[in-house]
Amino acid sequence: MTKRFDTIRAALHWATQHLREASDSPRLDAELLLMHTLSLDRVGLYQRLAEPLPPESAERFAQLVRRRQAGEPIAYITGHKEFFGLDLLVSPAVLIPRPETEFLVQWALAWLSDHPGATCVDVGTGSGAIILAIAWHLPREWPGLLIGSDISLPALQVAKANRQRLGLQRVQFVCGSLLEWCGEPLDLIVANLPYLRYEQAHPGIAYEPAIALYADHEGFAAYEALLDQAPGCIQTGGVLLCEIDPSQAARAQQSARRAFPHANVRVLPDLAGRARYLLVET
Ligand SMILES: C[S@@+](CC[C@H](N)C(=O)[O-])C[C@H]1O[C@@H](n2cnc3c(N)ncnc32)[C@H](O)[C@@H]1O
Repeated sequence: MTKRFDTIRAALHWATQHLREASDSPRLDAELLLMHTLSLDRVGLYQRLAEPLPPESAERFAQLVRRRQAGEPIAYITGHKEFFGLDLLVSPAVLIPRPETEFLVQWALAWLSDHPGATCVDVGTGSGAIILAIAWHLPREWPGLLIGSDISLPALQVAKANRQRLGLQRVQFVCGSLLEWCGEPLDLIVANLPYLRYEQAHPGIAYEPAIALYADHEGFAAYEALLDQAPGCIQTGGVLLCEIDPSQAARAQQSARRAFPHANVRVLPDLAGRARYLLVET
C-alpha cells in the first residue's frame, strides 16, 4: 500500500518508531534517510518539518526504511559515509570506513609533514578513505608520492570515483596483493587490512564484503603476510602503521619484531584505551 504522511514531521516520527528494533539510533537513521530522500541537509530538513511530504517521496522514503529494517547499513542505502571530514562514496564492494581508522590518517599526516618527498602507501585502500583523507589534508605543494592499493578491482572502482569527486588526481591506485606489486622503496605504509576471526561475524557487518573483514590464522593472516613482505619494501627510517584487533596485540608485536629485529615496535591504544594500532619504526 502506498505510504502517506501529512507532514515531514509525521514521516520522521513513523520511521523512528519502525526502526527501534533494527537500529541503536532510530531517530538519527530516520533523519539521514529522510535527508537522502529529499536531498536536504539537517538544517533544511528541520526547516521543513511542518510541510507536506509529496506521495512519491513518501513511497521512496518508506522503501528505504524497509531496507534499514532488514539490517542494511545506512551508508549502503545512501551511498555515502563521512570520514575524516570527507564525504565518501561507498558501495557493498567496500568496507564502510570507521571512526577508529581516522587515527591512521592523523598519525600519517603528522609524519608526512616532517618527511616531504616521502612515498606513502595505503595497503587495502577499499573506498580510498585513508589515502584520500591524507591527500586532502596535505598542502597542495607537498612533493611526495601517495598510493592506494587493493586486491579488489570493484573496491578500486569506488576509490577512483572518490578520487575523481574530490579532485585528488595526485593519488595513484594500484591493483595487487599486499606489497607484491611494489618495485620501489617506500617510506610510510599504512594498512587497515581484514583482521577479524570468522567467528566474530555478526549481523551488524553482514552486508560488508568478507574480503574486507576476515582473515585466516585468528584473523592475522593478512598482517603476517604483510610483515613478511614489508622488510623488502620499506626504507630504513620508514614506518609501518596498521590497525589491528585488540586480541592481536602480543602476536602483532612478536611478528613485527621477527620481521624487523632492529626496529622500534609498539602497540598504541585507541581513545577507549584498547590496543588498536601496531607501529613499526624501522
Ligand atoms: C578492512 S578493509 C579497509 C578499507 C579501507 N582501508 C578502510 O579503512 O576503510 C580491508 C581492505 O583490504 C583489501 N584486501 C584484502 N586482502 C588484501 C590483499 N591480500 N591485498 C590487498 N588488499 C587486500 C580488501 O579488499 C579491503 O578493501
